[in-house]
Amino acid sequence: MTISRRDVLIASAAAAAASLAARMALAELPKLAKKDTYKVGFAQTESNNPWRIAQTNSMQGEAEKRGWQLVYTDAAGSAAKQVADVNSMIAQGVELIFLAPREEKPLIPAIMAAKAAGIPVILLDRNVDQTLATAGEDYVCFIGSDFVEEGRRIAEWMVANANGKSKIIQLEGTTGSSPANDRKKGFDDFIAGNGAFTLLASQTGDFNRDKGRQVAETLLQAHPDADIIYAHNDEMAIGAISALEAAGKKPGTDVMVLSIDGGREIVQLIIDGKVNAVCECNPRFGPKAFDTAVAYANGEAIPAKIINPDNFYTIENAAAELPNAY
Ligand code: AHR
Repeated sequence: MTISRRDVLIASAAAAAASLAARMALAELPKLAKKDTYKVGFAQTESNNPWRIAQTNSMQGEAEKRGWQLVYTDAAGSAAKQVADVNSMIAQGVELIFLAPREEKPLIPAIMAAKAAGIPVILLDRNVDQTLATAGEDYVCFIGSDFVEEGRRIAEWMVANANGKSKIIQLEGTTGSSPANDRKKGFDDFIAGNGAFTLLASQTGDFNRDKGRQVAETLLQAHPDADIIYAHNDEMAIGAISALEAAGKKPGTDVMVLSIDGGREIVQLIIDGKVNAVCECNPRFGPKAFDTAVAYANGEAIPAKIINPDNFYTIENAAAELPNAY
């Protein structure tokens, strides 16, 4: 068979058109067909604390209520596994992916892979690096708390209620995650320039109870004069309480304890006098996440960020709010 110059030109034109179509398709956010039920994925980051379990229960409960099929994965604290989980969901033909990205950067390839496969992604609770992926272009939107505001509210309460306490240890969440970055920013910015407070140390405890305890233990040895502990989540705050008690200090009295999340265990610890203030991070995502998917399928304009409201707990309202805490 002889191939003419005309055949080559036709083949090149077809290849160029196909590549242009592929590039145009990649530039657009994938659509979601209008249907009664869907097969969707929920890629969870880990399940090692009550907050994550409450979030998963909320998502699974909502899927069941609506009769949607939910493909659930647990990345067990590994961003690499979470990327693999998303790829496996793509292979299983899910129609939309709810993703709780463990860290801001490593999950970008997973978002892009879903987009290339024509599957819309909704980010839940944690955000990604905004210089690498954009809402409305690479993923539909982010649904979750305003983490900067959570850190700011804790700092504001601390400044107003410190009663002479001033030397702070901060236990940060998972390095590279949006809640760790933003809760630190909100808190640090609020106290910056306030000469009455000193941040003695700020170190990660990976949102983990035992790591929080170990880090608090080490930092309390290095800074025995610390009288405030601000933990980015309940788990690390509860770990820090063990470290304080082991060091012969009274949490909540000798040392002010501040936290974010607001699970039932920590609200009870406020009532017990061991914790002073907690900003809730609302884990009840199910109804809002599924409503947003439906709104997206209906062609409604979806805001880049949908912010969950967070409660705030102190001794003033802890007993009354205990039944409402997750
Ligand atoms: O992204 C939200 C944070 O992640 C919660 O504060 C923490 O407990 C969880 O693991």
